[in-house]
Parts: sequence; structure tokens; C-alpha cells
Amino acid sequence: MLRPARPTKGKSMLPSQRAHFDMPREVCYLNAAAWSPLPRQSQEAGRIGVARKGQPWTIDADLPAQQFARARKAAAALIGADPDDIALISSVSYGVATAAKALNISPGSRVLLLEDDHSSPVLEWMTRAADAGFTVEVVRRPDDADWTEALLAAIARPGSPPVSLASISCIHWSDGGLVDLSRIGPALRAEGAALLVDATHAAGAMPLDVKKLDPDFLVFPTYKWVLGPYGRAFLYIAKRRQDATPLEQTAYGRRAVSAEQTTYLADTSYVSGARRFDMGERDHFISLEMASIGMEMVAQWSAAAISERLAMLTARLAEGLANLGVRFPEPHLRAPHILSLAFPNGMPEGLIARLAAANVHVAGRLGRMRISPHVYNDEQDIDAFVSAFRGLAR
Ligand SMILES: Cc1ncc(COP(=O)(O)O)c(C=O)c1O
Repeated sequence: MLRPARPTKGKSMLPSQRAHFDMPREVCYLNAAAWSPLPRQSQEAGRIGVARKGQPWTIDADLPAQQFARARKAAAALIGADPDDIALISSVSYGVATAAKALNISPGSRVLLLEDDHSSPVLEWMTRAADAGFTVEVVRRPDDADWTEALLAAIARPGSPPVSLASISCIHWSDGGLVDLSRIGPALRAEGAALLVDATHAAGAMPLDVKKLDPDFLVFPTYKWVLGPYGRAFLYIAKRRQDATPLEQTAYGRRAVSAEQTTYLADTSYVSGARRFDMGERDHFISLEMASIGMEMVAQWSAAAISERLAMLTARLAEGLANLGVRFPEPHLRAPHILSLAFPNGMPEGLIARLAAANVHVAGRLGRMRISPHVYNDEQDIDAFVSAFRGLAR
């Protein structure tokens, strides 16, 4: 179930993890939803990885298999998946393109998207709609900020063409709105429709369990909430979808295509599980190891503990911003770790840049100001933001 974690009774809250990052005290970085800093440990692994590639003859023959298994296991642990159901990919858009090749969207059906959702879970379907003869229906941002109810209403609307798929972020990237997948999943399944979840802003930042939610596809990158590098992402594929044709055709996606054999294409049937969907050149070990380290750190703190801490920080933010003329969704409708401010009269010109000049880093997203703390932030950062905002937002 994708719900904000409740405080763990009797246990103390996860403390700030700033010491793991190269983040000077005076920097107020509240922009994890754009890109997070790499932990010191990942930076060190990156340096070692570069040196290793500088002397490839020192690379252990077992390293590739170990690295793939480690990354698959770390990614699976964040979403309650079996590692065999995880493909190693490069980006969310790669995962969505994989799903689009695997799914057979019926002509005349509807694919549901969220208004102003990120381009990655959206553009693939817009691009395919005309040729494949389906329509994309964009669920409008509801005035009451309740994305879940808006989606449920769109799924069940009488007289509309059948829904074949919802391709949605479970946390809206611009307004931080939360989609309750535990309600959307059953509603889609009742219609015989598939579910593709872009969990970019959920995986690692809050509890997520594919065994309970049962999406067809779920994808997330590493460079935001799981503290990893660019160019690494993970795709969960439900077993019922795993006999599809992958986006790219690779030797390791097949049972026996190996340079070490005398017959090169000895057996071109696909390997079992999600491995057939692994991207080409997955062997970028420098970034793969860095990705694994970030995910392992997050798992060690636990998504529930991270969510609890970040909910505390965003609640403090919300309190500090009350009566300052900005609006944001109610706690039960927004992600616990993102506060996205709407400005009824428009965001003051240059405000994001003025804050950055004061060492306070947030993002402007579609007219909103998105504030996204992570484990390295503390109350001092929140208070610094509120004070800078009060001074600069007039
Ligand atoms: C909701 C969402 N999905 C996906 C992405 C990134 O997509 P990709 O990995 O395809 O670049 C972002 C980046 O901002 C995002 O906010």
C-alpha cells in the first residue's frame, strides 16, 4: 500500500544523515526531487570504479555477475519484489518504451494519463495513439487536489470506451500529489486494464510493495530519491508480462549466445525472468555499483523511517509557510516528502534564483515551487528556508 508511513511507536525517529554527504552546513539543499547528492561512499566507489576501468586486466571475472545480482537485489528490496522480476535499465522512458512494446493496447480503448505528469510515462502513449487506434485520456488536475478520486472517476465513467492501461506517476512530480495505488490497482483490474507505475518519487522515499499493489510494470531511476547516479534505473515486470519481446536484443537476454563458445548463436531462445529486458551495455559497473550503494543505504535506513522523518520536515515547512499566501495540498493528499507551493497570484519573478543566491535550493515546476528534503536535511534547513522565503517572496 502506498501511504505515508505512520510514526513507529516507541522507536526514535531516524536522525539526520548529513555526515554521509559532502554538504556544508550553510547549504540548504531542498531539491532531492530534481537530483540528490551522491553519498560520500558512492563517490568513493565511483573513484575506485574509474580506476578499475583504467586497468581492465585487474577486473575479476566474477565481477559482472556479482554486480548485476547486487543491483537487482537492492532494487527489488525497495519495492518488495523478487530480484528475478527486475530488469536493469537506463531511464524511466526506457522502461515505459519496454512496456509499450510488451503491451498490446486494443484499438478503441483508452489509456489514462495524469495532467502535466512527467513526459516519461506520458509521451510514449501520445506518440503511439494515432497509429494504434487508441485514445489517451488526460485526467485533469482536480481542484480539491485529490488525484486518486479523479482517477477512479475516470476509470469508472459510464459510456466511455474501455480502459486498457493507466500509465501514471504515483506521486505527481510538480504538485507532490499522492495517488493511492491500493485503490487504483483493483479498479483497473476490475476493468481488465493494466497498470504502469512511474515510482520515481516514491521508491525509497516511502514504503512500496509490488506484491500487494500488483502493477504490471513499475519503474524508477536512481538519481533522485535513492541517491544514485544518472543513467541507471530499474523496471519491475510482473511475471504475467515477462514473455514479451524486449526493447533491445542482447546476447545475455538469450540462453546461449556467447563469444566463449565456438558456435556463437547456439540458443537464441530468451532467458527466463525479467533479465531478458536488461538494457544493452548494462555492464557500466562504475555507475551500477554506485546505484547499488545508494539503494542499500536507503534500505538500511528503511523507507518507512525516511518517510517518517521527511513528513516531520515537510510538516514543519507547512507550519512555517502558513499565512504567507501560498497553497499546498492537505497532508493526506500529498507525498510526505514533498511540499509544492502554488502561488494564487503567480510565483514572484526570479524567486527560485534569488533563493539559490542565498544558498537555498528548491525547484520551480510548472509555476509551483517544489521543496523536497531528504535524509541529509534537518530542522535548521527548514527554518533557513522559511526565513529566506519570508525575506525574498514579497
Ligand atoms: C515523475 C518522473 N518520472 C521520470 C523522470 C525521469 O525520467 P527519465 O529517467 O526518463 O529521464 C522524472 C524526472 O524528473 C520524473 O519527475
